[in-house]
Amino acid sequence: MWRRSLRAARRCLGCRSPGPQGMCSSHAVRTCSAPALPAGRITALQAVELWRRHFEERGVTEPHLSSQYIVAHLLRAKTIQSLDQERLTEFLSREETEQVWKLCTRRLSRMPVQYVIEEWDFRELTLKMRPPVFIPRPETEELVELVLADLQRKSGAADAQHTCLEVGCGSGAISLSLLKSLPQLKAVALDQSQAAVDLTTENALRLRLQDRLQIHHVDVMTDPEAVLSLCGPVSLLVSNPPYLFSEDMASLEPEVSRFEDHAALDGGEDGLNVIKHILTLAPQILSDHGRVYMEVDPRHPPLIRRWVEVNVEELQYVETRLDITGRPRFCILQKATAETGPQAGSGLRN
Ligand SMILES: C[S@@+](CC[C@H](N)C(=O)[O-])C[C@H]1O[C@@H](n2cnc3c(N)ncnc32)[C@H](O)[C@@H]1O
Repeated sequence: MWRRSLRAARRCLGCRSPGPQGMCSSHAVRTCSAPALPAGRITALQAVELWRRHFEERGVTEPHLSSQYIVAHLLRAKTIQSLDQERLTEFLSREETEQVWKLCTRRLSRMPVQYVIEEWDFRELTLKMRPPVFIPRPETEELVELVLADLQRKSGAADAQHTCLEVGCGSGAISLSLLKSLPQLKAVALDQSQAAVDLTTENALRLRLQDRLQIHHVDVMTDPEAVLSLCGPVSLLVSNPPYLFSEDMASLEPEVSRFEDHAALDGGEDGLNVIKHILTLAPQILSDHGRVYMEVDPRHPPLIRRWVEVNVEELQYVETRLDITGRPRFCILQKATAETGPQAGSGLRN
């Protein structure tokens, strides 16, 4: 049974929840204290309920899921629902109770559950998570699905020989998930953050995908030459870059603003700083007909389309795809060749 996403982990704009009256403000929340350790023994279900109420009173988002995931993790399960009733209703040992208190107290400081339990699921993979490396969001699973569906449609993905570059790999979610689904794929992943490079390396080793993945510590904005030297022409360039507009950084949930690397989120004034560098390099990185698949802010597709038309001659905007909620979140671009020409795009135009 897989974990479902926590709202607190989404890249959420202007959606800070004010919470009920009298609870800790986002500034005072660090001073919120944990309830005292119970003198007697308690069951897993009682611990879940006690912490659910405490999180709720203190304004911690998704109080029930938070306490459920933490207690389930402690009992070596992914979800409470996957544990049998007997385990849930027998008493926790003293050590288990202390451990629940330790982890839930971290959540009380608004640390995302994914960092508290140090792992999370992305498609079929369970990945190690560590602050401040960006926690993969559910919409990025959609990006991976759309890449796979596109490849399947074009060439029968399972046996085609594809090569991929991912810019900004974070925990490695996108590259590792693609490698898992495409046994012939070889990938290069890079990130400006050493912590991200280390975590991707660790996840690749744990999943035994390291033989088909090269991982590099490179900044695509300051060292484009290094990016070009890392890989030959690739058929796929995938990225979930930092794309928030700087002014939106102020309205992030405390879970995001306090714990995740701001360099993974802030895309500059119009959210396009890193995106423009990636698209400028794309024609030199892609093989003929190679494609860029990118996750962006819903305001971005028309801006990107116009910017590419003016600034990157050898790249054509193919289409915009919607996410599961109907928002325009994914851009597909293709290396323009003499035969495709700059006008060959299709799909949802902006
Ligand atoms: C939104 S996170 C995405 C992480 C991962 N791909 C995912 O989807 O979970 C963006 C990533 O891009 C990296 N990044 C930001 N600026 C970069 C740059 N100039 N060059 C390379 N990587 C960059 C960040 O460190 C971060 O890991």
